[in-house]
Amino acid sequence: MMIENKSLELPDDVFHLFRDLMYEQSGVVLDERAKYFVENRLMHSVQQLHFDSFRDYYFYLKYDRKKNEELANVIDLLTIHETYFFREDQQLKSFSEEILPELFAKKKDAKSLRIWSAGCSTGEEPYTLSMLILDKEEFKDWTIEIFATDISQRVLQSARRGIYQPTAFRSTDPKYVSKYFTKEENAFRILDTVKRNVVFLHLNLLDTNKIAFINPMDIIFCRNVIIYFDLAAKRKVIDLFHTKLKDNGYLLLGHSESLINISTAFALRHLKHDMVYQKLVRNSGTTG
Ligand SMILES: C[S@@+](CC[C@H](N)C(=O)[O-])C[C@H]1O[C@@H](n2cnc3c(N)ncnc32)[C@H](O)[C@@H]1O
Repeated sequence: MMIENKSLELPDDVFHLFRDLMYEQSGVVLDERAKYFVENRLMHSVQQLHFDSFRDYYFYLKYDRKKNEELANVIDLLTIHETYFFREDQQLKSFSEEILPELFAKKKDAKSLRIWSAGCSTGEEPYTLSMLILDKEEFKDWTIEIFATDISQRVLQSARRGIYQPTAFRSTDPKYVSKYFTKEENAFRILDTVKRNVVFLHLNLLDTNKIAFINPMDIIFCRNVIIYFDLAAKRKVIDLFHTKLKDNGYLLLGHSESLINISTAFALRHLKHDMVYQKLVRNSGTTG
């Protein structure tokens, strides 16, 4: 069937409807400057589904019986999925050289580690963590569980496939590429040994009911995700992380993010390579 290629405009009032829908569904805030971004990102879907206007498309998303499938598409199109392997190397050094040895000493008997990569996008972040742990002989007989979650089904599918273009390695030491990937034409496939530590799950960070089923974590990475949220959504997510961290568990945010004005329930720890947050255990005096 021919797809009509008529150019459509997104009126201001309809942009506001999409903005509110996106906030309601994901916590992501689209400011006034995002109007053309929304128009460009959604134009193709409006045309492909043969709607006469963005308004009709909005009503479909809001009220149609099959709205959920299309809503997932809209959330995927309007969220930023930028990521790459070994992003934020100072923080990863703190993880690998300071946090992991500390947890190794502390959990020698249990021999298990639970890490949550919240907002994992196409998988580069959780796979990076898996590689860093595999690099450490001492964790060989440990149970490593890296839960990697995202609101977008499309990025999760790509993460599970585990095939990456060279741009994903823009800040990766080539030794990791040769050690943990196989080359396939112009792309690189991640080895099963790296994949084995990672479980990908579809999860909206605002979905309190679903998050209630998650067991406590030793470390939570949530980098470059809540920067797109407003204060209320940030507070909600950080409070949830607090309940999902074990005592003294670590919270690692993106380098431009902080908990100022969001939460006082974490201590800021100055490690050698970077600063990280740690769940304060009231009255224990051990988190400083
Ligand atoms: C910019 S990427 C960050 C990826 C990775 N953490 C990193 O720092 O490289 C942000 C990811 O957060 C996801 N995201 C946005 N809102 C979300 C929500 N409410 N729940 C879960 N994931 C969300 C997006 O789909 C996107 O894949």
